[in-house]
Amino acid sequence: MNKPTIGILGAGKLGTTLAKLSSQAGYPTLIASSKDPARIQLTISVLAPHAQAVTATELTHQADIVILALPLGKYQTIEKDGLQGKLVLDAMNYWWEVDGKDNHYSTPEHSSTELIQQYLSESTVVKALNHMGYHDLEDEAENGKDGHRKAIAIAGDDKQAVSTTAKIVSSFGFDPLLLPTLAAGRILEPGSPLFGADETLEKLQTIVDQQLAQLN
Ligand SMILES: NC(=O)c1ccc[n+]([C@@H]2O[C@H](COP(=O)([O-])OP(=O)(O)OC[C@H]3O[C@@H](n4cnc5c(N)ncnc54)[C@H](OP(=O)(O)O)[C@@H]3O)[C@@H](O)[C@H]2O)c1
Repeated sequence: MNKPTIGILGAGKLGTTLAKLSSQAGYPTLIASSKDPARIQLTISVLAPHAQAVTATELTHQADIVILALPLGKYQTIEKDGLQGKLVLDAMNYWWEVDGKDNHYSTPEHSSTELIQQYLSESTVVKALNHMGYHDLEDEAENGKDGHRKAIAIAGDDKQAVSTTAKIVSSFGFDPLLLPTLAAGRILEPGSPLFGADETLEKLQTIVDQQLAQLN
């Protein structure tokens, strides 16, 4: 069966890294910023040469699965048209220096991905690929090829969507670790010991268990 086309919305530090991992994993890969694709073409040809730079509109219509790698504060600029019925992986975080000093996106009770799910109400949103820095994502994916895999946590409510996300994370070079619900994904956000975590599955599971226990 053909691999699904992955579209990465956001062509900065994280987006270009994910575009490289996605194309290396054999997925047809599209990438877009909010501007003319010609403006990212040179960067993409160097950093993720097998990915295709397109417009955001082309991406949301043509990709089967979309990864959000743009500033969280810009989430309302995401075009919903074309995303209906699709799996959307939210890798965005609230970062005050970029998104403003007031966090309008998450609370101690709710993750920012729940807000994205509300906004993209006709898509299935899973939180993934948000807790590891882009340098580590690139380096650890390489290391994973030698069997020294690090783990990436995933939070979602839809079993099928979480399972598909786990396959993608695994094919990118990481062990997937599944959290029980989308809401539990708040333990992966800035301020948590899991944010920035670059750990093996066993170690990540230990920290996840500690954090989940504190939620209950
Ligand atoms: N950097 C990391 O290590 C890392 C790791 C995990 C998660 N994250 C999260 O990933 C997101 C991106 O971080 P980053 O460090 O990659 O930021 P960045 O380097 O500033 O890149 C952001 C990208 O998003 C694009 N963009 C802005 N609005 C857009 C829109 N409406 N549609 C499509 N693209 C749009 C920007 O280009 P234009 O402005 O030209 O459109 C730019 O290419 C943030 O939410 C961050 O918290 C980052």
